[in-house]
Amino acid sequence: MLNLQQANLSDISELCELENSVFDEFNFPLSKANFRYHIQKNYLIKAVYDEQIWGYILVLIKFKVPRIYSLAVSNKARGKGVGKALIQKVCDDFVRLRLEVRADNQNAISLYEKFGFKTQKIIKNYYPDSCDALEMTKAQDAF
Ligand SMILES: CC(C)(COP(=O)(O)OP(=O)(O)OC[C@H]1O[C@@H](n2cnc3c(N)ncnc32)[C@H](O)[C@@H]1OP(=O)(O)O)[C@@H](O)C(=O)NCCC(=O)NCCS
Repeated sequence: MLNLQQANLSDISELCELENSVFDEFNFPLSKANFRYHIQKNYLIKAVYDEQIWGYILVLIKFKVPRIYSLAVSNKARGKGVGKALIQKVCDDFVRLRLEVRADNQNAISLYEKFGFKTQKIIKNYYPDSCDALEMTKAQDAF
C-alpha cells in the first residue's frame, strides 16, 4: 500500500537520487542541502511503497498562499496514481495553494487541473531554456 509521510533527514540521499533521475539542469533540481533545509523548514511529503520512495511533494509554507515548489514521481512509478495521491494530500492540508509549472508540461498541468487549479497568468521565459511558466492557483475565488 502507498504510504504518505512527512520526510525526515534520513531520506535525503534517496530523495536526491529520485530528484536527479526526474529533473535535468534546466529544471532546478534540488541538492542534498536544499532537501535538508526543506525537510526542516517546510512541508515535504514522501510517497513510500515497498520501503522505497516513489515520489514526493514540497510545499513552501512561509508564503501567505503556500506554494507547491516541487512534485516528482520516479519514472518506474508513473501512471499509478502516486502524483494524484500527493496532490490530494496537500489539497486536504492547505485551503489555498499556488504553483508554477512549465507551459510544455501537459501531464502536470492536467493533473493540477483535476484538483481545481486554474491558470492565473503566463510568465514569459521563466525557465533557463526560455520556456514559459503557468502560474496556477487553487481556490482563487478566496484570494
Ligand atoms: C507529473 C507527475 C508528477 C505525475 O505523476 P504520476 O504519479 O505519474 O501521475 P498519476 O498516475 O497520479 O496521474 C495523475 C494525472 O496526471 C496526468 N498524467 C500523468 N501522466 C500522464 C501521461 N503520461 N499522459 C497524460 N497525462 C498524464 C493525468 O491527468 C493523470 O490523471 P488520470 O490518471 O486520471 O488520467 C510525474 O509525471 C512526474 O514526476 N513528472 C516529472 C516531474 C514533473 O513534471 N513534476 C511537476 C512539475 S510542476
